[in-house]
Amino acid sequence: MADSKRIAVIGAGLMGHGIAQVFAIHGHPVSLLDVNADALAKARESIRANLTLMARRGIGDAADIEPAVGRISVTQDLEEAASGAEFAIEAVSEQLELKQGIFQALDAVCRSDTVLATNTSVISITEIAEKARNKERIVGTHFWNPPYLIPLVEVIPGKRSSQQAMDSAFELLKSVGKHPVRVKKDVPGFVGNRLQHALWREAISIVENDIADAATVDEVIKMGFGLRLPFLGPMENADMVGLDLTLQIHDYILRHLERSSKPSPLLQRKVEARELGFKTEVGFQEWSPERIEESREGLLHQLLRSVAHRSEE
Ligand SMILES: NC(=O)c1ccc[n+]([C@@H]2O[C@H](COP(=O)([O-])OP(=O)(O)OC[C@H]3O[C@@H](n4cnc5c(N)ncnc54)[C@H](O)[C@@H]3O)[C@@H](O)[C@H]2O)c1
Repeated sequence: MADSKRIAVIGAGLMGHGIAQVFAIHGHPVSLLDVNADALAKARESIRANLTLMARRGIGDAADIEPAVGRISVTQDLEEAASGAEFAIEAVSEQLELKQGIFQALDAVCRSDTVLATNTSVISITEIAEKARNKERIVGTHFWNPPYLIPLVEVIPGKRSSQQAMDSAFELLKSVGKHPVRVKKDVPGFVGNRLQHALWREAISIVENDIADAATVDEVIKMGFGLRLPFLGPMENADMVGLDLTLQIHDYILRHLERSSKPSPLLQRKVEARELGFKTEVGFQEWSPERIEESREGLLHQLLRSVAHRSEE
């Protein structure tokens, strides 16, 4: 177990509670803050349920669950949460001004050697750090949902981040079993979301242009190249097939791919019609409560299997 460090997690929603769980199960005392008392009450219950499910699948020890939950204290007071922290991570709603205010406040209450990190999905780290004085200690640490099952965390420097803050975040994440990677530049969407949304833009365009329906697009991925993706990323794949062939393919295909820099009109129409997906039981496809449950359970099962498999290796 790593040396214990005091961690503050700001925001106890979907991501914040899962991030708190990752640090607590690895022995770190965590102070979890939210403005919403219900979110705080729910967070500890969700963490207990997540750890119980994992232990049932052989990931971790059931005897560690209560001590981990006990290491998490909850508060609505930022100074109480963060003043003693050695590492603080923000996971509040994805709004620039809200995040800027949180970093200004964290910078004012935290010790000078505390590293401050944001879990933003796509917003520039430099912009988030703008109102803080000590910008060198602010970095991005982008976890993926659910943060206790997906190993990747992108570690991103803002324009003013110090190497020391980057290294310290990287080492801490590694010590709690995450798989941190270093992103070299602060660009919107970093690496993962740029790749993911390039694929989504093309997928939506294919449906919009009636080339295939939504279910077929997903089938092409799930039963086709998606099976290779956990073992073969696009860069290794290009080297495998040969860069000469890759060049020939790009020379022909790139001009036919979607290039719009705006959200698709189909997506906009669906949102206007309140066809929001699982939330309203209709989106690109129709979703009965049974199908929604099946989709969520199927994903959770696969992720648990992959974590259990990795922990056996
Ligand atoms: N949901 C995902 O899949 C995902 C994945 C990676 C990163 N992220 C990023 O993580 C962050 C949080 O996302 P989420 O999905 O957990 O959102 P969420 O809505 O589930 O949780 C956000 C929480 O922030 C709290 N909050 C709002 N204002 C606050 C304030 N001033 N002080 C303290 N708490 C405040 C809310 O009460 C809420 O509990 C966002 O930046 C999001 O882009 C989300």
